[in-house]
Amino acid sequence: MSAPNKSYDPVEVEALKPEEIARRRDEALAAIAAAGDLEALREVKVAHTGDRSPLALANREIGALPPHAKADAGKRVGQARGQVNQALKARQEELEAERDARVLVEEAVDVTLPYDRTPAGARHPITTLSERIEDVFVAMGYEVAEGPEVEAEWFNFDALNFPPDHPAREMQDTFFVRGAKDGESSNVVLRTHTSPVQIRSMLDREPPIYVICPGRTFRTDELDATHTPVFHQVELLAIDEGLTMADLKGTLDHMVRALFGEGMSTRLRPNFFPFTEPSAEMDMLCYVCRGESVGNPDRPCRTCSSEGWIELGGCGMVNPRVLIACGVDPDKYSGFAFGFGIERMLMFRHNVEDMRDMVEGDVRFTRPFGMEI
Ligand code: FA5
Repeated sequence: MSAPNKSYDPVEVEALKPEEIARRRDEALAAIAAAGDLEALREVKVAHTGDRSPLALANREIGALPPHAKADAGKRVGQARGQVNQALKARQEELEAERDARVLVEEAVDVTLPYDRTPAGARHPITTLSERIEDVFVAMGYEVAEGPEVEAEWFNFDALNFPPDHPAREMQDTFFVRGAKDGESSNVVLRTHTSPVQIRSMLDREPPIYVICPGRTFRTDELDATHTPVFHQVELLAIDEGLTMADLKGTLDHMVRALFGEGMSTRLRPNFFPFTEPSAEMDMLCYVCRGESVGNPDRPCRTCSSEGWIELGGCGMVNPRVLIACGVDPDKYSGFAFGFGIERMLMFRHNVEDMRDMVEGDVRFTRPFGMEI
Protein backbone atom coordinates (compact mmCIF):
# COMPACT_ATOMS: atom_id res chain seq x y z
CA MET A 1 0.00 0.00 0.00
CA SER A 2 1.31 3.43 -0.93
CA ALA A 3 1.87 6.11 1.76
CA PRO A 4 -0.89 8.82 2.23
CA ASN A 5 -0.49 11.58 -0.30
CA LYS A 6 -2.62 14.74 -0.28
CA SER A 7 -2.29 15.34 -3.99
CA TYR A 8 -3.01 11.67 -4.77
CA ASP A 9 -5.72 11.32 -7.41
CA PRO A 10 -7.43 7.92 -7.66
CA VAL A 11 -7.84 8.34 -11.35
CA GLU A 12 -4.07 8.56 -11.61
CA VAL A 13 -3.59 5.24 -9.70
CA GLU A 14 -3.67 2.52 -12.34
CA ALA A 15 -5.47 -0.09 -10.16
CA LEU A 16 -8.23 2.36 -9.23
CA LYS A 17 -9.05 3.72 -12.68
CA PRO A 18 -12.76 3.12 -13.40
CA GLU A 19 -12.06 1.19 -16.60
CA GLU A 20 -9.48 -0.99 -14.83
CA ILE A 21 -11.92 -1.78 -11.98
CA ALA A 22 -14.63 -2.61 -14.57
CA ARG A 23 -12.21 -4.81 -16.53
CA ARG A 24 -11.24 -6.77 -13.38
CA ARG A 25 -14.89 -7.14 -12.37
CA ASP A 26 -15.87 -8.38 -15.83
CA GLU A 27 -12.99 -10.87 -15.83
CA ALA A 28 -14.18 -12.19 -12.47
CA LEU A 29 -17.84 -12.41 -13.62
CA ALA A 30 -16.80 -14.28 -16.80
CA ALA A 31 -14.68 -16.75 -14.80
CA ILE A 32 -17.56 -17.34 -12.37
CA ALA A 33 -19.99 -17.99 -15.20
CA ALA A 34 -17.50 -20.39 -16.81
CA ALA A 35 -16.85 -22.46 -13.62
CA GLY A 36 -18.31 -25.89 -14.43
CA ASP A 37 -18.26 -27.40 -10.94
CA LEU A 38 -17.82 -26.48 -7.29
CA GLU A 39 -14.10 -27.25 -7.34
CA ALA A 40 -13.54 -24.90 -10.32
CA LEU A 41 -15.65 -22.23 -8.59
CA ARG A 42 -13.51 -22.54 -5.46
CA GLU A 43 -10.41 -21.78 -7.55
CA VAL A 44 -12.15 -18.82 -9.24
CA LYS A 45 -13.12 -17.48 -5.80
CA VAL A 46 -9.52 -17.57 -4.57
CA ALA A 47 -8.25 -15.94 -7.80
CA HIS A 48 -10.84 -13.12 -7.88
CA THR A 49 -11.73 -12.40 -4.23
CA GLY A 50 -8.69 -13.72 -2.36
CA ASP A 51 -6.14 -11.45 -0.63
CA ARG A 52 -3.94 -11.37 -3.75
CA SER A 53 -6.79 -10.82 -6.23
CA PRO A 54 -6.69 -7.63 -8.36
CA LEU A 55 -9.82 -6.17 -6.70
CA ALA A 56 -8.51 -6.85 -3.19
CA LEU A 57 -5.21 -5.20 -4.09
CA ALA A 58 -7.10 -2.19 -5.55
CA ASN A 59 -9.07 -1.95 -2.32
CA ARG A 60 -5.82 -1.67 -0.39
CA GLU A 61 -4.74 1.29 -2.50
CA ILE A 62 -7.77 3.26 -1.20
CA GLY A 63 -6.17 3.68 2.20
CA ALA A 64 -3.39 5.76 0.66
CA LEU A 65 -5.77 8.23 -1.04
CA PRO A 66 -6.46 11.76 0.27
CA PRO A 67 -9.78 11.93 2.15
CA HIS A 68 -11.72 13.66 -0.63
CA ALA A 69 -10.83 10.89 -3.11
CA LYS A 70 -11.48 7.95 -0.81
CA ALA A 71 -15.27 7.93 -1.00
CA ASP A 72 -15.43 7.89 -4.75
CA ALA A 73 -12.77 5.19 -5.20
CA GLY A 74 -14.20 3.17 -2.31
CA LYS A 75 -17.65 3.20 -3.87
CA ARG A 76 -16.33 2.04 -7.25
CA VAL A 77 -14.25 -0.80 -5.82
CA GLY A 78 -16.91 -1.77 -3.29
CA GLN A 79 -19.58 -2.00 -5.98
CA ALA A 80 -17.34 -4.16 -8.18
CA ARG A 81 -16.49 -6.50 -5.28
CA GLY A 82 -20.15 -6.67 -4.30
CA GLN A 83 -21.13 -7.69 -7.82
CA VAL A 84 -18.44 -10.36 -7.89
CA ASN A 85 -19.50 -11.74 -4.49
CA GLN A 86 -23.13 -11.81 -5.51
CA ALA A 87 -22.31 -13.63 -8.74
CA LEU A 88 -20.18 -16.11 -6.76
CA LYS A 89 -23.00 -16.79 -4.34
CA ALA A 90 -25.53 -17.26 -7.14
CA ARG A 91 -23.23 -19.61 -9.10
CA GLN A 92 -22.41 -21.54 -5.90
CA GLU A 93 -26.13 -22.13 -5.27
CA GLU A 94 -26.64 -23.15 -8.89
CA LEU A 95 -23.75 -25.66 -8.85
CA GLU A 96 -24.80 -27.09 -5.46
CA ALA A 97 -28.31 -27.64 -6.75
CA GLU A 98 -26.90 -29.37 -9.85
CA ARG A 99 -24.67 -31.59 -7.68
CA ASP A 100 -27.52 -32.54 -5.34
CA ALA A 101 -29.75 -33.45 -8.26
CA ARG A 102 -27.00 -35.60 -9.77
CA VAL A 103 -26.24 -37.38 -6.48
CA LEU A 104 -29.91 -38.11 -5.95
CA VAL A 105 -30.06 -39.84 -9.33
CA GLU A 106 -26.69 -41.64 -9.04
CA GLU A 107 -27.19 -42.89 -5.49
CA ALA A 108 -30.87 -43.58 -5.73
CA VAL A 109 -31.92 -46.57 -3.62
CA ASP A 110 -35.05 -48.39 -4.60
CA VAL A 111 -36.46 -49.07 -1.16
CA THR A 112 -39.20 -51.19 -2.68
CA LEU A 113 -36.73 -53.85 -3.95
CA PRO A 114 -36.79 -57.12 -1.96
CA TYR A 115 -33.64 -57.47 0.18
CA ASP A 116 -31.55 -60.58 0.71
CA ARG A 117 -32.50 -61.87 4.12
CA THR A 118 -29.71 -64.45 4.04
CA PRO A 119 -26.37 -62.68 4.37
CA ALA A 120 -23.77 -63.87 1.86
CA GLY A 121 -21.41 -66.41 3.42
CA ALA A 122 -18.21 -67.80 1.99
CA ARG A 123 -16.98 -71.22 0.93
CA HIS A 124 -15.07 -72.97 3.66
CA PRO A 125 -11.30 -72.66 3.14
CA ILE A 126 -10.94 -76.44 3.60
CA THR A 127 -13.10 -76.92 0.49
CA THR A 128 -11.24 -74.27 -1.48
CA LEU A 129 -7.80 -75.59 -0.48
CA SER A 130 -8.85 -79.18 -1.34
CA GLU A 131 -9.88 -77.99 -4.78
CA ARG A 132 -6.59 -76.13 -5.27
CA ILE A 133 -4.71 -79.34 -4.45
CA GLU A 134 -6.94 -81.39 -6.80
CA ASP A 135 -6.32 -78.84 -9.58
CA VAL A 136 -2.54 -79.30 -9.28
CA PHE A 137 -2.91 -83.03 -9.97
CA VAL A 138 -5.76 -82.86 -12.48
CA ALA A 139 -3.45 -80.60 -14.52
CA MET A 140 -0.90 -83.45 -14.48
CA GLY A 141 -3.46 -85.98 -15.75
CA TYR A 142 -4.62 -87.41 -12.42
CA GLU A 143 -8.27 -88.35 -11.92
CA VAL A 144 -10.26 -87.38 -8.80
CA ALA A 145 -11.50 -90.52 -7.01
CA GLU A 146 -13.94 -90.74 -4.14
CA GLY A 147 -15.00 -93.37 -1.66
CA PRO A 148 -17.59 -93.75 1.13
CA GLU A 149 -17.05 -92.17 4.53
CA VAL A 150 -18.72 -95.15 6.22
CA GLU A 151 -16.35 -97.87 5.10
CA ALA A 152 -15.96 -101.62 5.38
CA GLU A 153 -13.17 -102.55 7.78
CA TRP A 154 -11.67 -104.63 4.99
CA PHE A 155 -11.02 -101.52 2.84
CA ASN A 156 -9.92 -99.36 5.75
CA PHE A 157 -7.53 -101.91 7.31
CA ASP A 158 -7.33 -105.48 5.92
CA ALA A 159 -6.67 -104.69 2.27
CA LEU A 160 -4.13 -102.13 3.44
CA ASN A 161 -2.12 -104.90 5.15
CA PHE A 162 -3.20 -104.20 8.72
CA PRO A 163 -3.40 -107.78 10.17
CA PRO A 164 -6.43 -108.28 12.50
CA ASP A 165 -4.43 -108.12 15.71
CA HIS A 166 -1.58 -106.00 14.48
CA PRO A 167 -0.85 -103.07 16.79
CA ALA A 168 -0.76 -100.86 13.69
CA ARG A 169 -4.58 -100.89 13.74
CA GLU A 170 -4.38 -99.02 16.99
CA MET A 171 -2.29 -96.34 15.36
CA GLN A 172 -5.59 -94.82 14.39
CA ASP A 173 -8.36 -94.51 16.93
CA THR A 174 -11.36 -95.81 15.11
CA PHE A 175 -15.10 -95.14 15.31
CA PHE A 176 -16.61 -98.62 14.86
CA VAL A 177 -20.22 -98.80 13.69
CA ARG A 178 -22.29 -100.97 16.07
CA GLY A 179 -23.60 -104.28 14.69
CA ALA A 180 -27.30 -105.10 14.34
CA LYS A 181 -27.24 -107.08 17.59
CA ASP A 182 -25.58 -105.94 20.80
CA GLY A 183 -21.97 -107.06 20.99
CA GLU A 184 -21.94 -108.08 17.33
CA SER A 185 -19.38 -106.45 15.06
CA SER A 186 -20.65 -104.82 11.88
CA ASN A 187 -17.18 -104.77 10.33
CA VAL A 188 -18.01 -101.22 9.35
CA VAL A 189 -16.04 -98.14 10.47
CA LEU A 190 -15.99 -94.43 9.82
CA ARG A 191 -12.92 -94.32 7.61
CA THR A 192 -9.86 -93.25 9.57
CA HIS A 193 -7.95 -92.12 6.50
CA THR A 194 -8.42 -91.74 2.73
CA SER A 195 -6.19 -94.76 1.99
CA PRO A 196 -9.19 -97.11 1.46
CA VAL A 197 -9.87 -95.06 -1.70
CA GLN A 198 -6.51 -96.42 -2.98
CA ILE A 199 -7.94 -99.92 -2.70
CA ARG A 200 -11.24 -99.01 -4.36
CA SER A 201 -9.36 -97.24 -7.18
CA MET A 202 -7.18 -100.30 -7.85
CA LEU A 203 -10.19 -102.63 -7.82
CA ASP A 204 -12.16 -100.33 -10.15
CA ARG A 205 -9.46 -99.56 -12.71
CA GLU A 206 -6.77 -101.24 -14.78
CA PRO A 207 -3.23 -99.87 -14.41
CA PRO A 208 -1.81 -97.39 -15.15
CA ILE A 209 -3.72 -95.62 -12.37
CA TYR A 210 -3.21 -91.99 -11.37
CA VAL A 211 -5.75 -90.81 -8.80
CA ILE A 212 -6.09 -88.07 -6.23
CA CYS A 213 -8.59 -88.73 -3.44
CA PRO A 214 -9.72 -85.88 -1.18
CA GLY A 215 -12.23 -86.55 1.56
CA ARG A 216 -13.51 -86.46 5.12
CA THR A 217 -11.97 -88.79 7.69
CA PHE A 218 -12.79 -89.62 11.32
CA ARG A 219 -10.83 -90.55 14.45
CA THR A 220 -11.78 -90.63 18.11
CA ASP A 221 -9.48 -87.68 18.85
CA GLU A 222 -10.64 -84.96 21.23
CA LEU A 223 -11.28 -81.58 19.64
CA ASP A 224 -8.38 -79.31 20.54
CA ALA A 225 -6.14 -76.72 18.88
CA THR A 226 -4.39 -79.31 16.69
CA HIS A 227 -6.88 -82.21 16.43
CA THR A 228 -10.45 -82.68 15.42
CA PRO A 229 -12.44 -85.93 15.33
CA VAL A 230 -13.68 -85.06 11.81
CA PHE A 231 -10.96 -83.84 9.49
CA HIS A 232 -9.92 -83.97 5.84
CA GLN A 233 -7.14 -85.74 4.03
CA VAL A 234 -5.88 -85.86 0.47
CA GLU A 235 -4.51 -89.16 -0.77
CA LEU A 236 -2.54 -89.69 -3.96
CA LEU A 237 -1.96 -93.01 -5.69
CA ALA A 238 0.09 -93.71 -8.82
CA ILE A 239 0.44 -97.25 -10.23
CA ASP A 240 2.42 -97.81 -13.41
CA GLU A 241 5.36 -99.76 -14.78
CA GLY A 242 8.73 -98.70 -13.42
CA LEU A 243 7.64 -96.14 -10.81
CA THR A 244 10.26 -95.51 -8.09
CA MET A 245 10.81 -93.36 -4.99
CA ALA A 246 12.34 -90.79 -7.36
CA ASP A 247 8.90 -90.34 -8.99
CA LEU A 248 7.33 -89.97 -5.55
CA LYS A 249 9.88 -87.32 -4.55
CA GLY A 250 9.49 -85.44 -7.86
CA THR A 251 5.70 -85.44 -7.49
CA LEU A 252 5.88 -84.12 -3.93
CA ASP A 253 8.33 -81.40 -4.95
CA HIS A 254 6.07 -80.37 -7.81
CA MET A 255 3.08 -80.18 -5.44
CA VAL A 256 4.78 -77.92 -2.90
CA ARG A 257 6.10 -75.67 -5.67
CA ALA A 258 2.61 -75.41 -7.19
CA LEU A 259 1.06 -74.59 -3.81
CA PHE A 260 3.78 -72.53 -2.16
CA GLY A 261 5.93 -71.16 -5.00
CA GLU A 262 9.27 -71.72 -6.69
CA GLY A 263 12.22 -72.82 -4.60
CA MET A 264 10.13 -75.12 -2.38
CA SER A 265 11.12 -78.74 -1.85
CA THR A 266 10.38 -81.76 0.35
CA ARG A 267 12.44 -84.25 2.33
CA LEU A 268 11.63 -87.82 3.36
CA ARG A 269 12.33 -89.43 6.76
CA PRO A 270 11.98 -93.19 7.38
CA ASN A 271 8.68 -94.22 8.94
CA PHE A 272 6.28 -97.18 9.03
CA PHE A 273 2.91 -97.68 7.39
CA PRO A 274 1.65 -101.25 6.77
CA PHE A 275 0.47 -100.35 3.27
CA THR A 276 3.72 -98.84 1.97
CA GLU A 277 7.22 -100.29 1.87
CA PRO A 278 9.49 -98.42 2.22
CA SER A 279 7.48 -95.77 4.06
CA ALA A 280 8.43 -92.23 4.90
CA GLU A 281 7.29 -89.17 6.74
CA MET A 282 7.31 -86.21 4.35
CA ASP A 283 8.34 -82.72 5.36
CA MET A 284 8.26 -79.59 3.27
CA LEU A 285 10.70 -76.72 3.43
CA CYS A 286 9.29 -74.04 5.72
CA TYR A 287 7.55 -71.69 3.30
CA VAL A 288 8.10 -68.73 5.63
CA CYS A 289 11.85 -68.85 6.34
CA ARG A 290 12.78 -71.37 3.60
CA GLY A 291 15.22 -72.98 6.03
CA GLU A 292 17.11 -69.78 6.72
CA SER A 293 16.17 -69.74 10.42
CA VAL A 294 18.14 -72.94 11.10
CA GLY A 295 21.14 -72.10 13.31
CA ASN A 296 20.35 -68.41 12.84
CA PRO A 297 19.22 -66.93 16.19
CA ASP A 298 18.91 -63.50 14.57
CA ARG A 299 16.13 -64.78 12.33
CA PRO A 300 13.91 -67.10 14.40
CA CYS A 301 10.87 -68.58 12.63
CA ARG A 302 7.60 -69.18 14.52
CA THR A 303 6.10 -71.27 11.73
CA CYS A 304 8.69 -74.07 11.83
CA SER A 305 10.15 -73.32 15.30
CA SER A 306 13.43 -72.62 13.45
CA GLU A 307 13.67 -76.22 12.30
CA GLY A 308 13.48 -75.26 8.62
CA TRP A 309 10.99 -78.03 7.79
CA ILE A 310 7.28 -78.60 8.39
CA GLU A 311 5.78 -82.08 8.70
CA LEU A 312 3.22 -82.70 5.98
CA GLY A 313 2.09 -86.35 6.11
CA GLY A 314 2.98 -89.91 5.18
CA CYS A 315 4.10 -91.54 1.94
CA GLY A 316 5.88 -94.51 0.43
CA MET A 317 5.96 -97.17 -2.30
CA VAL A 318 2.76 -99.21 -2.35
CA ASN A 319 3.41 -102.47 -0.48
CA PRO A 320 3.37 -105.46 -2.96
CA ARG A 321 0.96 -107.21 -0.56
CA VAL A 322 -1.54 -104.38 -1.16
CA LEU A 323 -1.06 -104.67 -4.93
CA ILE A 324 -1.75 -108.42 -4.73
CA ALA A 325 -4.89 -107.86 -2.58
CA CYS A 326 -6.17 -105.58 -5.35
CA GLY A 327 -5.28 -107.92 -8.21
CA VAL A 328 -2.36 -105.82 -9.49
CA ASP A 329 0.72 -107.79 -10.59
CA PRO A 330 3.62 -106.56 -8.40
CA ASP A 331 6.16 -108.01 -10.85
CA LYS A 332 4.87 -105.76 -13.57
CA TYR A 333 3.66 -102.71 -11.69
CA SER A 334 4.87 -100.60 -8.84
CA GLY A 335 3.31 -97.55 -7.26
CA PHE A 336 3.67 -94.75 -4.82
CA ALA A 337 1.17 -93.09 -2.50
CA PHE A 338 1.00 -90.23 -0.09
CA GLY A 339 -1.57 -88.69 2.21
CA PHE A 340 -1.77 -85.62 4.39
CA GLY A 341 -4.22 -83.59 6.46
CA ILE A 342 -5.80 -80.52 4.87
CA GLU A 343 -6.58 -78.84 8.21
CA ARG A 344 -2.92 -79.03 9.06
CA MET A 345 -1.90 -77.56 5.70
CA LEU A 346 -4.46 -74.78 6.13
CA MET A 347 -3.01 -74.03 9.57
CA PHE A 348 0.48 -73.37 8.41
CA ARG A 349 -0.40 -72.00 4.96
CA HIS A 350 -2.70 -69.35 6.47
CA ASN A 351 -1.40 -68.97 10.02
CA VAL A 352 -4.56 -70.42 11.59
CA GLU A 353 -3.56 -71.09 15.16
CA ASP A 354 -6.50 -73.13 16.36
CA MET A 355 -8.16 -75.99 14.46
CA ARG A 356 -11.38 -75.41 16.42
CA ASP A 357 -11.94 -72.22 14.38
CA MET A 358 -12.29 -74.42 11.29
CA VAL A 359 -15.14 -76.49 12.67
CA GLU A 360 -17.25 -73.96 14.53
CA GLY A 361 -19.02 -72.66 11.42
CA ASP A 362 -18.53 -68.97 12.21
CA VAL A 363 -18.58 -66.95 8.98
CA ARG A 364 -16.23 -64.43 10.58
CA PHE A 365 -13.57 -67.14 10.18
CA THR A 366 -14.43 -68.18 6.63
CA ARG A 367 -15.29 -64.79 5.12
CA PRO A 368 -11.73 -63.34 5.01
CA PHE A 369 -10.66 -66.29 2.85
CA GLY A 370 -13.16 -65.14 0.21
CA MET A 371 -13.75 -67.38 -2.73
CA GLU A 372 -10.13 -68.09 -3.57
CA ILE A 373 -7.09 -68.94 -1.46
C1 FA5 B 1 -2.30 -91.63 7.38
O1 FA5 B 1 -3.47 -91.40 7.62
C2 FA5 B 1 -1.88 -92.37 6.14
N1 FA5 B 1 -3.04 -92.95 5.52
C3 FA5 B 1 -1.16 -91.43 5.20
C4 FA5 B 1 -0.47 -92.16 4.08
C5 FA5 B 1 -1.08 -92.25 2.83
C6 FA5 B 1 0.76 -92.74 4.29
C7 FA5 B 1 -0.45 -92.92 1.80
C8 FA5 B 1 1.41 -93.42 3.27
C9 FA5 B 1 0.80 -93.49 2.00
P1 FA5 B 1 -1.41 -90.34 9.45
O2 FA5 B 1 -2.11 -91.13 10.45
O3 FA5 B 1 -0.03 -89.86 9.77
O4 FA5 B 1 -1.26 -91.09 8.08
O5 FA5 B 1 -2.29 -89.05 9.09
C10 FA5 B 1 -1.97 -88.18 8.03
C11 FA5 B 1 -2.27 -86.73 8.42
O6 FA5 B 1 -3.63 -86.60 8.84
C12 FA5 B 1 -1.46 -86.23 9.60
O7 FA5 B 1 -0.19 -85.80 9.19
C13 FA5 B 1 -2.31 -85.07 10.08
O8 FA5 B 1 -2.02 -83.91 9.32
C14 FA5 B 1 -3.71 -85.49 9.74
N2 FA5 B 1 -4.44 -85.88 10.96
C15 FA5 B 1 -4.38 -87.04 11.63
N3 FA5 B 1 -5.21 -87.03 12.70
C16 FA5 B 1 -5.82 -85.81 12.69
C17 FA5 B 1 -6.79 -85.16 13.52
N4 FA5 B 1 -7.37 -85.76 14.57
N5 FA5 B 1 -7.16 -83.90 13.24
C18 FA5 B 1 -6.65 -83.28 12.16
N6 FA5 B 1 -5.73 -83.81 11.33
C19 FA5 B 1 -5.32 -85.08 11.59
